[in-house]
Amino acid sequence: MPRTISTSLIEARNLRVYFYVKKGALGKRGIVKAVDGVDLVIEERGIVTLVGESGCGKTTLGKTVAGLLKPTSGEILFRGKSITRMNRKEYMEYRRSVQIVHQDPYASLNPTKTVFQTLSYPLMRWKLVRGRAEAEEKVKELLRLVGLTPPEEFMRKYPHQLSGGQRQRVVIARAISVNPSLVVADEPITMIDVSLRLGILDLLLKLREELGTAYLFITHDFGAARYFSAKGGGVIAVMYLGKIVEIGPAEEIIQHPLHPYTKALIDAVPVPDPEISRKKRMPPLRSLDIPSPLSPPPGCKFHTRCPDAMPVCAEKEPPLVEVRPGHYVACWLYAK
Ligand SMILES: Nc1ncnc2c1ncn2[C@@H]1O[C@H](COP(=O)(O)OP(=O)(O)OP(=O)(O)O)[C@@H](O)[C@H]1O
Ligand SMILES: [Mg+2]
Repeated sequence: MPRTISTSLIEARNLRVYFYVKKGALGKRGIVKAVDGVDLVIEERGIVTLVGESGCGKTTLGKTVAGLLKPTSGEILFRGKSITRMNRKEYMEYRRSVQIVHQDPYASLNPTKTVFQTLSYPLMRWKLVRGRAEAEEKVKELLRLVGLTPPEEFMRKYPHQLSGGQRQRVVIARAISVNPSLVVADEPITMIDVSLRLGILDLLLKLREELGTAYLFITHDFGAARYFSAKGGGVIAVMYLGKIVEIGPAEEIIQHPLHPYTKALIDAVPVPDPEISRKKRMPPLRSLDIPSPLSPPPGCKFHTRCPDAMPVCAEKEPPLVEVRPGHYVACWLYAK
């Protein structure tokens, strides 16, 4: 029987992205291991939700997956092919297929361009439309898709005439305009008014239904991760100082978190019912401060904050092991 090779949309293999920075007043050089040996698979139409605190490397990982940053080592495969081994045509196809939505919708849009100019540019650049009339039709369709109606009105507006939520919808329209297979949504709701956040998450999920887009959804807020994956399913990956410390099917991670860090992230989500919130309280973190990424602790990088730390945690780094089906965790409580 011929062997079938299953190819995922994106695969990151032992990915490392290091930054060389000046350290301290003497200007000594230091290394920030922003992404430090990450393996990640994103399937066609799949959702991977990446959660972790500020500075743990989420944006760096997202940008590297989208081809905006070069890995220090390791590789990115797009539909089974390493992006460093692609010819120009294949590489362009990969770059079109992976689009990114950044956190700040204010910085992402050129203030001197109308919504029509912003949205028609990528359509022209990737030769997806011919001429202005076709561009106008396509832009109207995109605006309707992201809920900015009537499109004729929004087309003429400048970014300063839009609310934060509307701007982010324009940014999302721009990302999907070139028919990407994957959208890296990097904290797409963080800078948006709380009342509009769920609307943006629902829009992303609706677009997945309609267009079949896969997502790498990045957030520091486990509440948003839970909302997104409760509706969309997929995988949750928890990141701490450059490493994935827990990963598995979303439902499994939410119902049976194993890593003390994941439990702390879940615990930080406000719960409306005080009864539940009292019952599920875990012992507090030993320290609220994230260690400096320039000199992370030895062993398990989380041990300085971990309520369950044991002597081994300060010495050896725990491997990522499968504890339940498809559910991996890097913690000495579970590794042998
Ligand atoms: N261009 C750069 N030069 C030097 N250091 C960088 C650079 N970009 C990121 N870093 C460092 O790499 C680490 C990871 O940063 P990154 O922005 O990926 O984290 P993040 O998880 O997205 O954080 P946030 O929640 O604040 O967006 C941080 O310590 C950051 O200071
Ligand atoms: Mg970030």
